[in-house]
Amino acid sequence: MVKICCIGAGYVGGPTMAVIALKCPEIEVAVVDISVSRIAAWNSDTLPIYEPGLDDVVKKCRGMNLFFSTDVEKHVSEADIVFVSVNTPTKTQGLGAGKAADLTYWESAARMIADVSKSNKIVVEKSTVPVKTAEAIEKILNHNSKGIDFQILSNPEFLAEGTAIQDLFNPDRVLIGGRETPGGQKAIEALRDVYAHWVPVDRIICTNLWSAELSKLAANAFLAQRISSVNAMSALCEATGADVSQVSHAVGKDTRIGPKFLNASVGFGGSCFQKDILNLVYICECNGLPEVANYWKQVIKINDYQKTRFVNRIVSSMFNTVSGKKIAILGFAFKKDTGDTRETPAIDVCKGLLGDKALLSIYDPQVNEEQIQRDLAMKKFDWDHPVHLQPMSPTSIKQVNVVWDAYAATKDAHGVCVLTEWDEFKTLDYQRIFDNMRKPAFVFDGRNVVDEAKLRAIGFIVYSIGKPLDQWLKDMPAVA
Ligand code: NAI
Repeated sequence: MVKICCIGAGYVGGPTMAVIALKCPEIEVAVVDISVSRIAAWNSDTLPIYEPGLDDVVKKCRGMNLFFSTDVEKHVSEADIVFVSVNTPTKTQGLGAGKAADLTYWESAARMIADVSKSNKIVVEKSTVPVKTAEAIEKILNHNSKGIDFQILSNPEFLAEGTAIQDLFNPDRVLIGGRETPGGQKAIEALRDVYAHWVPVDRIICTNLWSAELSKLAANAFLAQRISSVNAMSALCEATGADVSQVSHAVGKDTRIGPKFLNASVGFGGSCFQKDILNLVYICECNGLPEVANYWKQVIKINDYQKTRFVNRIVSSMFNTVSGKKIAILGFAFKKDTGDTRETPAIDVCKGLLGDKALLSIYDPQVNEEQIQRDLAMKKFDWDHPVHLQPMSPTSIKQVNVVWDAYAATKDAHGVCVLTEWDEFKTLDYQRIFDNMRKPAFVFDGRNVVDEAKLRAIGFIVYSIGKPLDQWLKDMPAVA
């Protein structure tokens, strides 16, 4: 029986391994992690991550050919294929601080694999890593190999949170990079055979190691760039009276461009886009390509600009002060259908409002109070470390109140900010919300989910990103 072990039971390791176990009943899959609480949650009825369809997959295989364990060394030593899906945070100190990937967790995983291995292994990079990481890992493994053959593959993951199971069942492509040696090619075939259980072979792309590593960074940079492009247009739409939804619809109809990832919003978030672009920027700089580095940096700058612009809009339209005013925040996760808050734009928007002394009442259907308080108190980049290594939960911020209902959040509020596109925000009883708010009552829609005409008819002053402005907003221009 082929045995697979995955180091790192996170948003990537958990769902990908669950799907491999489901699709390959004859393969035994163990997912291991140093976080005891995470593994306990994977073995419980309440999984550590919220992902539509994940519960079903896990229930079907757990205890059959899918196991979650903290016994990292045992499972690694027994495995034929070891996936490594650990955190790759942005460095906060030393060389490349604020840009380069911190490979501490990756390196420690590689050294442990070398230490405990007694048989040949294929080691698969699942984490997103800088180009040439595989080469470094290969060196660590081969210098400590005791005669064992290690083949390194790069198999970056392209799933999107919120649709992870669907993406894993039906991927646009699976990418496998390996050495162009007979051993490397054999390893590629072994991994291709695993995916070929359910992925058509023409969607399994095999490349050299460096192409696979770079393709992942490039794909995320291209996706984020589309969002920054439409967000840049949204600012121009507001200034000119154009409607960004109409512009992106017209632009997206061009088959060379396509309609996806063209929704204007308060900005992109999630654990990957910013981190991967910063990493790409750093690699460009290291390779003497400052023009290319600056090009990609701009994608992040526009994203930051969009968040600042949103906060400024709120403050300026409320007579230039939100001090002591209750503002309801609807949605905190970085997108709908996930409880993930890593790099969510809500953090920067809330911090901006708190900086102006607002009182925040926050509601998200999937994010609890502890998480929100941690996020608002945590330093930039601290989030991307294993939970038990993150700073202890700090004292909560008094200006922030977390509630479990949109109506409680909006009661007596001066303004409502929609920061995540949860479906339920489209169908709220906005008349009831209006009746219970202070007047004038504002809605700032950072995801363009509300029906502006309906809300205006109720009496709200509405700001929707990239849409023609209410007279009120025109009269109170925001300086970004
Ligand atoms: P995560 O933080 O959810 O999971 C990483 C896990 O690795 C944590 O549970 C941590 O405790 C564990 N870990 C760290 N060092 C370990 C060690 N030495 N031994 C055992 N366990 C260890 O991170 P996530 O989101 O799963 O991301 C993992 C990688 O995949 C990152 O490189 C990320 O950039 C990449 N990625 C993430 C995607 C996403 O949507 N979240 C999509 C595609 C790639």
